[in-house]
Amino acid sequence: MTDSVAATGAGTAPRKPVVLVADDDGHIRRLVVLLLQSRGMTIVQAADGIEALAVAKASRPDVLVLDVNMPGLSGFEVCRAIRSDPLLHRTPVLILTAQGATADKVAGFEVGADDYVQKPFEGAELAARVGSLVARSRVYGAADTPPPEPEGRVVALVGAKGGSGTTTVTTSLALVTADLWSGGALTPAALIDLDLVHSHAAFLLGVDPRRTLADLTAHVPLTLDRDYLLQFAEQHGPGLAVLSGARNPLEGERITPDLVKSLLTTCKGTFSYSFVDLPSSYVETSLSVFDLADLILVVVTPELTSIRSAVQLMAVFQSLSIPPERWHFLLNRPLDAGDLPEAALERTLHRPILQALPNNGLRVLEANNRGVPLVKSQPTQPFSVAIEELALRVSHVVPVHSAAGGTPTERVGRIERRLKR
Ligand SMILES: Nc1ncnc2c1ncn2[C@@H]1O[C@H](COP(=O)(O)OP(=O)(O)O)[C@@H](O)[C@H]1O
Ligand SMILES: [Mg+2]
Repeated sequence: MTDSVAATGAGTAPRKPVVLVADDDGHIRRLVVLLLQSRGMTIVQAADGIEALAVAKASRPDVLVLDVNMPGLSGFEVCRAIRSDPLLHRTPVLILTAQGATADKVAGFEVGADDYVQKPFEGAELAARVGSLVARSRVYGAADTPPPEPEGRVVALVGAKGGSGTTTVTTSLALVTADLWSGGALTPAALIDLDLVHSHAAFLLGVDPRRTLADLTAHVPLTLDRDYLLQFAEQHGPGLAVLSGARNPLEGERITPDLVKSLLTTCKGTFSYSFVDLPSSYVETSLSVFDLADLILVVVTPELTSIRSAVQLMAVFQSLSIPPERWHFLLNRPLDAGDLPEAALERTLHRPILQALPNNGLRVLEANNRGVPLVKSQPTQPFSVAIEELALRVSHVVPVHSAAGGTPTERVGRIERRLKR
């Protein structure tokens, strides 16, 4: 991500058009960037499809220039996601296709691209085509896109099978995310325990919940507002609220799918990121979460039973019409998991792994038993480092508007520098 949009200045001169250039080939990307910059455009960049979507959401460019074959999400998948995003759906998209790939052009138009240019391209032609899309964007775009309300994101984590480390990862991720931004309109993070049978998330943080969501069901108000909801949360440090589902499975039965829906809707207006810990079995409350989550992270372990369950879960997502860009795989290696290599898993699942988390021996278990997550007590351990990277990655995949999230803390800079190394 280079030139920030804010850097274009707020003077009276017309704002320079902002163009997102996404290509995993650094050489081609630089070529396009230099070309468009020389025509007075401000450029934001992305090196893969997932980053492209995140940067598009964060900077709302006038035009997108997308390569087709990129890791994570292809240019087509990014285009499809843009067309279904209420704030971006009118943004013109130009696809860079491989030479002679007629199928690419057809596919591009099918997903709603506005134009395409074949590689290798003539600089003048590409610049002219992007220029005409910028002009179109200015005439038809923007007018009907209201400034975004500060709205948070719901990130659900579900294990392909029990014992995958889902609760450990969810808890750690919430704790780190709470520390990534400050000064926004919303509280940085919430940890929501909706595993109503094995309800351990608060315990892993050393929190003893005085009130739970099951208590809330005793007097559900007509609209579940923020202040009422917060009465059922335990504060953990300044940035994290912990909402526990139930003290025992019997109480847990009081939590209905409808309650979960209104809970998550209220959470979006209260927290920048709400991390939901789900059970690995399919229950109706989980389906409500799948429905409303902005991102679902499926934790797989390197063993055949986990892969089988992951494949079944993919079928569930398909039957619920949850698009592929709304969910990703995490690979975790708890103590007794198998040792299939990451690449073999990706091949079998036909999907890249968003983040691999290393086995960290007994330290994870010991940290869990003490109620102080490893990311807090031993931040330089491999598992902790991977969780930090995951937290940053999640914030790129489902970014919140800066009004909601505030400004990045020093920790964000540290993680970014480490990732570049
Ligand atoms: N990366 C890891 N390295 C070592 N142990 C892990 C790792 N991830 C999870 N564990 C251990 O695996 C066990 C199951 O974790 P848990 O979070 O309860 O899984 P789930 O919620 O999927 O059932 C715990 O004992 C935890 O300490
Ligand atoms: Mg669990």
